[in-house]
Amino acid sequence: MKKMSANQIKDNMVEKDQIVEKVYEIYDRAYERIQAVRNPREAKRILRERYKLIVDEDMITLVYSSFIEGIPVLFEGPPGTGKTEIGEALLSLWAGRKAFVLPCSENYDEYRVIGDFHPLRAYREGFNEQSFIPRPLLAALILDSGVLIDEIRRSSEEFQNLLLDIIDKRRIIIPELKRVYRSLGEGFQIIFTSNPDDLAQNELSDAFLRRVVRVTFSYPSFNKELEILKLRLGETFELYDEFTMNAALKAVEEMRKSDLLYKPGVADMVRWMAIGARIAKLRSHSKVTREDLIDVAKAVLIKRPEEESLVLEIIESHLPG
Ligand SMILES: Nc1ncnc2c1ncn2[C@@H]1O[C@H](COP(=O)(O)OP(=O)(O)OP(=O)(O)O)[C@@H](O)[C@H]1O
Ligand SMILES: [Mg+2]
Repeated sequence: MKKMSANQIKDNMVEKDQIVEKVYEIYDRAYERIQAVRNPREAKRILRERYKLIVDEDMITLVYSSFIEGIPVLFEGPPGTGKTEIGEALLSLWAGRKAFVLPCSENYDEYRVIGDFHPLRAYREGFNEQSFIPRPLLAALILDSGVLIDEIRRSSEEFQNLLLDIIDKRRIIIPELKRVYRSLGEGFQIIFTSNPDDLAQNELSDAFLRRVVRVTFSYPSFNKELEILKLRLGETFELYDEFTMNAALKAVEEMRKSDLLYKPGVADMVRWMAIGARIAKLRSHSKVTREDLIDVAKAVLIKRPEEESLVLEIIESHLPG
């Protein structure tokens, strides 16, 4: 496919198309352009430096290869393992523009993602370009940028099929306007996220799964999680002595293997350690103490009151008083 710059794409759209103009007016500045990075090794470096994300090069290579083939990617895995943040960052680097994020819900439909009509203007002037309000998926296609469709299992099957049709054909039809918008570049790519263990959510259909490249996320190894903490905490990492840091990592590892219903993800681990360091500092402790960590754990690691005693038991077994 011949690559086009965002401006060439704009020029190539129907001249003076009001919808294209509107998309630029509404979204161009909010989803700003950045330097595109399509080399996986370079992307890995930038993800670390700029986004504070540690991502394997093999994973980036797989995602980028799927993008080149125009096949959407599904990130699946437990909560707090980086699916949303890594997805958004990769789509942004690939397209050279900040990606759109659509958090799914049960009642998502084409009007919320493609566009709808201003009720009063449509009543007065009819269903035309003036009364049409473009929404993020159409905007992303026109701006040639990526879309992260977060928690896809929260949406209806009908909505999932609508998305797959758009992705397969790389075009959006607006019947009321008799208009078809086609994707003209390679920046318009999709990443879905999903947590398969969340029983409250819908299953993904076979038809859906057949059309995506699946990337599974899991909890990181001890050393990788330690690396993430160093990167995320910056200089406050120094407020932990080695024993306390290792004990906290081991405790979280044990919680993930336990029968707890709420298992802490990397996001929880980072929050626990980051707030722990802040509290220790405000309490004028030179190092984070066991008590600092237990106080913070109660606030950030326990999401169900009935699980409090088990969580504290696990932490105390690794950090004996
Ligand atoms: N590989 C990683 N590198 C750096 N930070 C990470 C990584 N994985 C997870 N994190 C931490 O987790 C946070 C991102 O979690 P994110 O919300 O993207 O997870 P998620 O898998 O989408 O979770 P959920 O299923 O709850 O939506 C980051 O802000 C960071 O604290
Ligand atoms: Mg998420």
